[in-house]
Amino acid sequence: MGGDRRELRRRFHGHLHDVWSRLALSIPGGWVEEAGALTCIATGSSSPSFNLALASGARGDPREALDAARDRFSGAGLRWLLKLQPDLDHEVVVHARRRGLDLDEEPVYWMPIRPGAATAPLSSAAPLSVSVAGRDTIDDAVLCFAEAFDADADAVSRELGPNLLTIPTFTVFVGYLSGEPVASSMLATTRSVGLAGVYSVATRPDHRGRGFGTALTAAALAEAAQQGCDTAVLEPSPSGAPMYRRMGFEPLTTYLEAVISPHDGP
Ligand SMILES: CC(C)(COP(=O)(O)OP(=O)(O)OC[C@H]1O[C@@H](n2cnc3c(N)ncnc32)[C@H](O)[C@@H]1OP(=O)(O)O)[C@@H](O)C(=O)NCCC(=O)NCCS
Repeated sequence: MGGDRRELRRRFHGHLHDVWSRLALSIPGGWVEEAGALTCIATGSSSPSFNLALASGARGDPREALDAARDRFSGAGLRWLLKLQPDLDHEVVVHARRRGLDLDEEPVYWMPIRPGAATAPLSSAAPLSVSVAGRDTIDDAVLCFAEAFDADADAVSRELGPNLLTIPTFTVFVGYLSGEPVASSMLATTRSVGLAGVYSVATRPDHRGRGFGTALTAAALAEAAQQGCDTAVLEPSPSGAPMYRRMGFEPLTTYLEAVISPHDGP
């Protein structure tokens, strides 16, 4: 089982590369560049979580890779996220710590997808109508996301919104209550590693605690089952973690992350 988990962690890492690279390359001005032991992926967003460096899997001096990533993001004037998995990226973690970077722990959860469970109706869910977002409704999803994550809806719409619809492996969902958008979520599948990632589950603050977050997560899982995925992964926020645990998600691993501003270290 330990070996299975390690393999699943590798698959998750491949999934992260796939998802973030697709997103960055869908955005005008986004880019993906190799920097030895790190891959630098930039959407150009003002949010550092959307510009990140992940271990590339290539051999190379971790100090040079950290320098190259810093120079590349600084040159573009971007704040960025160094995102490392301690198991797989041991040497980069050691060097990041030597440089005094403060690495926060961020959990990753997983769950086998059981089609019946994923699509089971929720006893608590009010008359919520969930649909896949298209050109006309992507801004409804952006609104839910921006309110839930305390982000600027115009900036999210400008930087990300419609681009999400151009990526064939991404599906955005919106939940409506009497015609009003109240919750959203996104599915990103990576066929090469057989994983389905659930992202950005968001319920507008006034509508929480009524089963909508669970329903939007279940909608993503049901679509993942339709697409033939048997394993779901996600990175829970502190407010989302109890909901995901209740749905059957379990911890898989913990990433180590540091936000770095231009002209900071490492
Ligand atoms: C996390 C988030 C999506 C949850 O949304 P939500 O719509 O409140 O989710 P649910 O209603 O399905 O579940 C929340 C809780 O309400 C409870 N609940 C659901 N229906 C209920 C009902 N009818 N009556 C009472 N409680 C209910 C659930 O049991 C759950 O409890 P738990 O967290 O202890 O498991 C929401 O808090 C949010 O948008 N947070 C900010 C963004 C974020 O962090 N997203 C997660 C990213 S990974």
